Amino acid sequence: MKKRVLSGIRATGRLHLGNYLGAVKGMLELQNNSEYETLYMVADVHTITTPFKVEELRKNRREVIIDYLAAGLDPKKSVIFQQAEVNEHMELAFYFSSITTIARMQHLPTFKEKVRQYPKNTTMALLNYPILMAADILVYKAGFVPVGIDQEPHLEVTREIARKMNQLYGTDFPEPVRFATKGEYIPSLKGEGKMSKSVEGSYINLTDSLDEIRKKVRSIPTATESGGEMSLGIKALFTFAELYISSEVEKYKNEYEKGTLQFITLKDALTEAIYKELEPLQKKRKQLESDKVYVDKVIKEGAGKARAIASQTVREVRQKMGLG
Ligand code: ADP
Ligand code: TRP
Repeated sequence: MKKRVLSGIRATGRLHLGNYLGAVKGMLELQNNSEYETLYMVADVHTITTPFKVEELRKNRREVIIDYLAAGLDPKKSVIFQQAEVNEHMELAFYFSSITTIARMQHLPTFKEKVRQYPKNTTMALLNYPILMAADILVYKAGFVPVGIDQEPHLEVTREIARKMNQLYGTDFPEPVRFATKGEYIPSLKGEGKMSKSVEGSYINLTDSLDEIRKKVRSIPTATESGGEMSLGIKALFTFAELYISSEVEKYKNEYEKGTLQFITLKDALTEAIYKELEPLQKKRKQLESDKVYVDKVIKEGAGKARAIASQTVREVRQKMGLG
C-alpha cells in the first residue's frame, strides 16, 4: 500500500514564495517519490470562510490549479482537483462537527487571528474551518500533509478527530503528520511576521518579474537595532540566503559581523537566485494560460478520481454512525 498524501491551498489569489517554499515544494517532493500516492487540491470552499468576491473566487480556483501545474505538479502522478467539486468533504465535515466542541475551535490560535483580522465576520464557517480541513485530509485517509508550520494547530485537530472517530465508531482513520520543508516558515519582506497574501508588501509572487523582485528584496529593512541585536529584516534576509545561496551565507555572515557587509550586494545576489528558480515556472505558466482545453481536462479528471476515493470513505462512515 502506498502512503497517501493530501494538501491544499486556499483560492485567495496567486501563489507567493511562502506558499511555494512552505507547501508546494513539499508537494512536489512527495509527488516525485513513488512510495507516495498524492492528492492536491485548491481549497476553494475554505475561501468562503472569510469575506470574498464571487468573480474573484471563480477566477482564483482556476488560477491556483494553473500555478500548481506551472510549479510542476503533474496530473499523471498526482490527483489535482478543486475541493468544491467533491461534496463528500463537506458531508464528512458535518459528521465530524458532531464530535467537536465549540470551545476547542474557539481556542485555536488560527481562529483568534482571523477574528482579529475580520472582527465583523466571525461566521460559523470560520469556526468550522479546521473541521473541514480535517475532512479534506481524512476523507482520503491521508497520513502525510505538506504544509507550512502555521498549519500545525489544524493538524493537531485532525489527529484528535481521527482518534475520536476511531474510538467512538470503529473507523480506521490515520493520525496525519505534517511533512515539513526547509522553508516551513518564510518571513515577511517587512521583517515582522510571516510572508502572507493578506499583508501588502510582505510577499513575492511567483509571477513577479526580475525588476519587481529586485525592488521588493531591496525594500527589506536593514537598519541596525540599537544594542547591536540583529533586526528582524536582517534576519529575514539571512533566512532567504540560507535557502537560496547557502554556499555564500558564511561569507556574508562574516562581513555582517565585521560591519563591512553591503546589504545591496547580498540583496541583489538573492534577487538573481530567486528569479532563476521562478523563471521556468513563469514560462510554463504562459503556455498553460493559452491551453484552456488541457487545464479543463485536468480539472475534470482530477475531480472524478478524488470522488471515487472520497465516496467510499463517506459510505463507510455513514454505515458506522448508523446513517446507512
Ligand atoms: P496566506 O497566509 O498567504 O494566505 P495560505 O494560508 O493560503 O497563505 O497558505 C497556503 C499554504 O502555504 C499553507 O500550507 C501554508 O502553511 C503555506 N504558507 C503560507 N505562508 C507561508 C510562509 N510564510 N512560510 C511557509 N509556508 C507558508
Ligand atoms: N488551511 C490551509 C491553509 O490555510 C488550506 C487547507 C485546507 C489545507 N484544507 C487543507 C491544507 C487540507 C492541507 C490539507 O493553507
